[in-house]
Amino acid sequence: MIASSLKPTSRRFDPASTSGDDPSVAQVVRRALDSASAAVEGTRAGRGGKRRPTAVLDAGCGRVSALTGYRAQIGRFVGADIHPPPPGALPHLDEFATIDLCTDADAFPPATFDIILSSFTVEHFADPSRAFRHLRRWLRPGGRLVISTVNRRHPFVRAYLATPERWRRPLQRLVKASAADAHPLVGACNDPVAIESALRAAGFTDVRVTTVSHLARAWGRRRVTRVLGLVGDMIARQTPSRRSTIIAEAAAPAS
Ligand SMILES: C[S@@+](CC[C@H](N)C(=O)[O-])C[C@H]1O[C@@H](n2cnc3c(N)ncnc32)[C@H](O)[C@@H]1O
Repeated sequence: MIASSLKPTSRRFDPASTSGDDPSVAQVVRRALDSASAAVEGTRAGRGGKRRPTAVLDAGCGRVSALTGYRAQIGRFVGADIHPPPPGALPHLDEFATIDLCTDADAFPPATFDIILSSFTVEHFADPSRAFRHLRRWLRPGGRLVISTVNRRHPFVRAYLATPERWRRPLQRLVKASAADAHPLVGACNDPVAIESALRAAGFTDVRVTTVSHLARAWGRRRVTRVLGLVGDMIARQTPSRRSTIIAEAAAPAS
């Protein structure tokens, strides 16, 4: 049994004073991907032998991917999503697979990818723990996972999740670019502590979790939702464990 003093709580994400540094999700994800690329390169250099091309997976790829910025370094760029894209919508990919990340354990052979990105998908997963186990298995030893997802500890996210189902869809459409972008929010594993523990339980090591204020940017298409987003970001700014967006980095054990 874990002693209560050692129990993980969200409070440890709240330092006594915050630096005032407020990077965007894009910046934090880019830093995480830079560090993932460097780590994967380091692992490969350490192993010597014949170099394989870098293989990456955007898990729940939608239409846009932060991995596109790394295209020149990627040998095999795979996207996977529960919904197939319209023809020609994903020119940056080499391959696309229609899969449910929570159930399709054998969508890819074990140890297929060096880096997996899952950007704003975990909040939609019916079974995130299972999906994490799949992602972990699909990573090569020493491979890296980068996740961004929403934080249900943010008061607005919590309020949304407490809203009756019939009002949720119209509310979600208000802040999303298109109906295709608005997937039902489940939020089964969506706080910093839950994400960290689920990743460790799935066999990941070197798990690092951080949070970012992202509502004003995410809801910036309309003035009214942008203002609401700014208010939401201000509410949580000094309490990192409640900021709207979680970014997690994790590694598959090296052997
Ligand atoms: C909010 S969109 C994010 C898309 C893209 N990753 C991005 O950052 O713009 C969520 C994506 O996750 C996909 N998705 C949701 N649940 C999924 C599942 N169980 N398996 C695979 N994809 C899923 C959706 O179809 C959608 O494309």
